[in-house]
Amino acid sequence: MYTQALDIHPQLATPRVASADEHKQAQFEDTINREGKIEPRDWMPAHYRKTLVRQISQHAHSEIVGMLPEGNWISRAPSLKRKAILIAKVQDEGGHGLYLYSAAETLGTSRDQMLKALHTGRAKYSSIFNYPTLTWADVGVIGWLVDGAAIMNQIPLCRCSYGPYARAMVRICKEESFHQRQGFESLMVMMQGTPEQQAMVQDAVNRWWWKCLAMFGPPDSDSPNSEQSKRWGIKRISNDDLRQSFIDATVPQAKALGVSLPDPDLKWNEERQHHDYGSIDWDEFWATVNGKGPCNKERLATRVKAWDDGAWVREAALAHANKQQARQTKEAA
Ligand SMILES: [Fe+2]
Ligand SMILES: [Fe+2]
Repeated sequence: MYTQALDIHPQLATPRVASADEHKQAQFEDTINREGKIEPRDWMPAHYRKTLVRQISQHAHSEIVGMLPEGNWISRAPSLKRKAILIAKVQDEGGHGLYLYSAAETLGTSRDQMLKALHTGRAKYSSIFNYPTLTWADVGVIGWLVDGAAIMNQIPLCRCSYGPYARAMVRICKEESFHQRQGFESLMVMMQGTPEQQAMVQDAVNRWWWKCLAMFGPPDSDSPNSEQSKRWGIKRISNDDLRQSFIDATVPQAKALGVSLPDPDLKWNEERQHHDYGSIDWDEFWATVNGKGPCNKERLATRVKAWDDGAWVREAALAHANKQQARQTKEAA
């Protein structure tokens, strides 16, 4: 009889609930092991969801805060061509932010929640954007090195186990590769110019190099969450391995440009078949992550102001949507 189910003692009912959960967990793990994709409606462990919300929203914030240092140079670009390229690039970064906020929303967190976390300083974004862009060469170096490091970090994310994130990353990586090339090309032109232009490029490389290496995050020995993320197919390659690949790929590019990289310990290690490099200043990295970088306050204030200034647009769009809906309801009645 179906009513029997109502009589089950809670203690007897517990194992049935547990086994249903175990079944879902097993299905989830099976998908991960088969290299399949977890989709928004699929069951997932709460910690997997939380890790992804943190990572994707942090990534989205980095894209939109990342618009600021370069946006600073749009009105001062040295030619119409460079201005058009820079506008397109900064606009791309805004688009990346939007894909990523949408991907994070599929996990059940709202954009308002994510932005509130950013605006109140609870959410992090990539610390590289807390440094100033002092000269036009910084714009080229950001394209070459910062976008270059981002590509190295993001290509493995195209294979992330969470479907919406992986799919967003495919398009983002294509655009990032344009960003990297435009930066390199712009520096190449400057390196063929006057000694002042060459010095400006070298100075920008000197200021950004170490910060770019820190972009890959703390050494593997200090990254406690990495192992779990690897098991879940979120993170594919460790921080140190990504950093090493970036260095190995960038050294010949620096040579082609004719700039030196500011690290006396940087040299090819025949045995390892990789470059050795000097030690990164992690104290500076953590100080910047924790709000003490040269531009943290300015970046956050700019984002908050943009949000406040845009309030009337959001209100108008909402009023318009409500009016449309009321009209449709009236017509349907
Ligand atoms: Fe981007
Ligand atoms: Fe980019």
